[in-house]
Formats: sequence, C-alpha cells, structure tokens
Amino acid sequence: MAAELGRTDRQVRLTVTDLDPVMARAARQRLAHLPHVVVHQADATRLPYKDGSFDAVTSFLMLHHVIEWESAVSEASRVLRPGGMFLGYDLVASRVASLVHLVDRSPHRLIERGTLEPVLARAGLQAVTVQYSLRGLVLRFAARKPRPPQPGGGAIESTSPATGQVRP
Ligand SMILES: C[S@@+](CC[C@H](N)C(=O)[O-])C[C@H]1O[C@@H](n2cnc3c(N)ncnc32)[C@H](O)[C@@H]1O
Repeated sequence: MAAELGRTDRQVRLTVTDLDPVMARAARQRLAHLPHVVVHQADATRLPYKDGSFDAVTSFLMLHHVIEWESAVSEASRVLRPGGMFLGYDLVASRVASLVHLVDRSPHRLIERGTLEPVLARAGLQAVTVQYSLRGLVLRFAARKPRPPQPGGGAIESTSPATGQVRP
C-alpha cells in the first residue's frame, strides 16, 4: 500500500511503521527508492510521534494483531491533526479468521462485529463509518479527528505539511 501511494503521489510524505524489526527492515528495503518515505520500527500502542503530527493515519490488517488494539486506535487519534483522517481495513472475528490464525500462529485478538465503532468514538474520532463486506468477514473504517470549535464558528486550518502514516 505504501509503495503504491509513494509511487503515485510524490507530494505526500509517508511514515511507515511496524513493531517487528524484520518487517520494518523489509519495508525499508522495498521502499528505499522512494525518498519521501521513511520507515520506523514502532509500537502502534505507543507511537513515538507528537500529538497532531499527521494528516492521515492508515492501518491495513494490523489492528487485530495488536492484542490491545483499542490502544492503537487511541494512539492513531492522538497523532492526528484536527481534521485528519484515520482509515483502514481489517478482519472481523469469524471462524475462518480464527482458523487462519491458528495455522499461522500469529498473536491476535480479532475484532468482533460492532466493537470498533464505539472504540473509534471513545478515542475522540467523529464521522465514523464502518462498512462490512465479503459476507461480514472484512471491515473498512473511516473516522475524522474533529476540529476544535472556534468562537466565531469557523475552523482552524492546519498549515502542517502533508504527512501520513502508512503501514507496509
Ligand atoms: C498481517 S501483517 C500486515 C502488514 C501490512 N499492513 C501488509 O499489508 O503487508 C500485521 C503486522 O502488524 C504488525 N504488528 C503487530 N503488533 C503491532 C504493534 N503493536 N505495533 C505495530 N505493528 C504491529 C506485525 O508485525 C505485522 O507485520
């Protein structure tokens, strides 16, 4: 995903993260030809970035591998600037998903249908949409960090450069 985004839009600066040093190294090698992409080894539940430092955070098939995935959602919200978007897709808890993870033995806590929505909202995100597809096996989500209300009713405009956090 990061390779495609980095290839098609060279205006966007991407920060790619993974907890596993082997995965981070593989991503670094794969993305080495894209100077506007950096790869960091980082824990999604304790991101080493300042509050409000990204325009967008994405997560592709990652949340269910984080046992405390609620903390990863909170961190995504923390590092988003007001008006920024948290987007991604993941597996929904199902017999098929459990079987796959029994075979690959990866640590996981699958997301039960209907449980992501309140977690996104509790993390302070709004305009939450969660769509279920492939017979309910997969979910796609989008949520926005609200802009603080202004006394005159306007909104704060960010002047930060385009940044995003995209997983390999
Ligand atoms: C199914 S892979 C998806 C990787 C990538 N998004 C892709 O599409 O190729 C899940 C990844 O989540 C990573 N992961 C698990 N726990 C994590 C955490 N706490 N913080 C960051 N990454 C984590 C794993 O190391 C693994 O590489």
